[in-house]
Amino acid sequence: MNAPVSPSVLAQKDVANHFHPYTNLRAIEKDAPLMIVAGDGIEVIDDTGKRYIEGMAGLWCASLGFSEKRLGEAAKRQMDVLPYYHSFSGKAHNVVAEVSEKLISMAPTQALRDGRVIFANSGSEANDTAFKLVHYYHNAIGKPAKKKIIARGKGYHGVTVASASLSGIPTMHQHFDLPIDGVLRTSCPHPYQFAKDGESPDQFATRLAAELEALILSEGPDTIGGFIVEPVQGAGGVIVPPPTYFEKIQPLLKKYEILFIADEVITGFGRTGNMFGSQTYSLEPDMLTTAKMITSAYVPFSALYVSGKIYQACADASATVGVFGHGYTYSGHPLGCAIALETLKIYEERDIVGHVRDVSPAFQAGLQKFADHPLVGDVRGVGLIGAVELAEDKQARKPFDPKRSVGAYLVRRAQEHGLILRAMGGDIIAFSPPLIITEPQIAELLRRFTKALDDTTAWIKSGA
Ligand SMILES: Cc1ncc(COP(=O)(O)O)c(C=O)c1O
Repeated sequence: MNAPVSPSVLAQKDVANHFHPYTNLRAIEKDAPLMIVAGDGIEVIDDTGKRYIEGMAGLWCASLGFSEKRLGEAAKRQMDVLPYYHSFSGKAHNVVAEVSEKLISMAPTQALRDGRVIFANSGSEANDTAFKLVHYYHNAIGKPAKKKIIARGKGYHGVTVASASLSGIPTMHQHFDLPIDGVLRTSCPHPYQFAKDGESPDQFATRLAAELEALILSEGPDTIGGFIVEPVQGAGGVIVPPPTYFEKIQPLLKKYEILFIADEVITGFGRTGNMFGSQTYSLEPDMLTTAKMITSAYVPFSALYVSGKIYQACADASATVGVFGHGYTYSGHPLGCAIALETLKIYEERDIVGHVRDVSPAFQAGLQKFADHPLVGDVRGVGLIGAVELAEDKQARKPFDPKRSVGAYLVRRAQEHGLILRAMGGDIIAFSPPLIITEPQIAELLRRFTKALDDTTAWIKSGA
């Protein structure tokens, strides 16, 4: 056995060789990453043996926690029998057929149950596929001008060239020469930041729907092919739309024949208290992206649902050119399919959606208790996703100066207290724990957060 590696050596090895994603690259060279070496239930363990509650389930994804043995066993079984096969040019394999049937049977709407699922390896790639299908479909039905896609401010759809362009977060565009042409932006439905003084949630939703329609009309409805949303915006800051937002938006999409893409990479598979966010918000998408919790994040895997209407048009077009020219070497990889099947089986057997519904009231009520705290401007959430948005002046809804990095300070204090959280732009602290979290564990998570908030209050008072 190798001699144990000291923590500092491990971190040095990492920063000397690893180009970190989504990181301040100079800061990590100095500060060194938190090195995680093991997982246990809702906790992860670092290289000094310290345990942390993973309040974000990693990146909104490890729904079954970090030590679900059945997934490892399913992986071993699959690797022993068929470690790889593809689905190109007239081939397929048993597990891709099984998982496709399972996913279609679970689809939240009849239009999707009449359609198909197409596989990829990440949320970004699945959204990239959706982007390409907006083009393919409209060419196929003889509307080649109808290609622009409308996306929202603060949206997060991934990092490929197309999905980063759809995303509405400035750091994803700066220095990358993005977004590409053909992406239009409409406002983010975040009442706390963007509703006018005295505007009710319903009035705010009405204003945003009017803004969307004005954009469609000014660009020309014949040029708009798609509209993409996250039912609850995650990385933009856990933005829960006003209750009437989607009922005002969806008729516009139907009226102007715009394909509706629901990016359920975070909300798919139970996060909001239904299997899909589309059920929570009565959405009727033409395409629906899933990733992350489809395998409890244990292996990279994603699936894009495509309605019957889109599939049939693509099938006709592919027949004329001889091939549907899209797919990844790993589309429908047997390992991903096997882990997805086992994950979905566990969700059913353990009634994971029922569990989320049982524990989420304690989670949401616990978060709401922070609403009166002097540092807190807004608290929001649904199911097992939530956010606490910090404010310098809560009455005026005024955020802290970003240079002070108050959210980052709070997250560091939480880490000291054994809780991993994430600060989003605008000092928004996000919560998205593994779906298996229990009520006593929620209480402990909130207790540790309270300590971090107290530390942050003291730090602010000290004028640091
Ligand atoms: C809503 C949403 N869509 C897409 C993505 C991109 O997924 P991936 O990182 O697997 O490419 C993410 C990632 O967090 C996401 O939150």
